[in-house]
Amino acid sequence: MAIATTATSATTAATAATATFSIWRGDAQTGQLVDYTTAVGEGMVVLDAVHNIQAEEAPDLACRWNCKAGKCGSCSAEINGVPRLLCMTRLDTLPLDKPVTIEPLKAFPLLKDLITNVNWNYEVKKRIKKFNPRPPDATDGTWRMQQKDVDRVQEFRKCIECFLCQDVCHVLREHHLHDEFIGPRYLVYAASLEMNPLDTEDRLKDLKDNHGIGFCNITKCCTTVCPEDIKITDNAIIPLKERVVDEFYDPLTKLVRLFRPRKK
Ligand code: SF4
Ligand code: SF4
Ligand code: FES
Repeated sequence: MAIATTATSATTAATAATATFSIWRGDAQTGQLVDYTTAVGEGMVVLDAVHNIQAEEAPDLACRWNCKAGKCGSCSAEINGVPRLLCMTRLDTLPLDKPVTIEPLKAFPLLKDLITNVNWNYEVKKRIKKFNPRPPDATDGTWRMQQKDVDRVQEFRKCIECFLCQDVCHVLREHHLHDEFIGPRYLVYAASLEMNPLDTEDRLKDLKDNHGIGFCNITKCCTTVCPEDIKITDNAIIPLKERVVDEFYDPLTKLVRLFRPRKK
């Protein structure tokens, strides 16, 4: 691990390793990066360093976290400018010979320090048509599914709603099209419903007209930052785009639909 060390007295055999963290302090009106230096050691993650700094120097530093295991999705931040989970970013993967910057997500309104208001995401989710299954296949109220269909949607269910993909997406982050585009997280959610063979809803028109799937230009930045390794663009967004194109822009499909209405 590349770590800075402080000078020690000649009588002290061990050296204390330290690193400096440049952390955003402030609210939506004013703020700045403030440097804190703290001890670092084997196995530490960035969240450990933040906890040290809270304990030693900045008890009022606001930071959201719950599980410290990469599963609750609440400790999202930008580390050296890259959207990452504080609890899953090991210090030995970062260059510690210069300050490590820790900033809040940029795509959502800042509340304080490292905390942003991500409520918009939950409102978006409410706008997507809910799962609406066909009647059960068997008299005991159960359904039958092909294993390959189960496997396909299982990947999408790994999402921990960390919103790192929403944060990195230029449509939200730079162009602020929150009213027109639901973002990669909710395209994954829509895909999990659209590709479920039990579901009877049709979300393609909404994806085209209300959810802004056309704004995605498949840069794949969202896939790069996903801590669950969900292939957001290849497995969710591109298949949804193909379905939208087939449904609304393919002349042959349009002709067939004239005689046979679309069924999922
Ligand atoms: S691939 Fe699409 S959704 Fe993902 S970051 Fe790029 S523009 Fe946004
Ligand atoms: S798709 Fe990945 S990056 Fe996006 S919210 Fe879910 S887990 Fe986080
Ligand atoms: S604290 Fe739960 S994902 Fe980091």
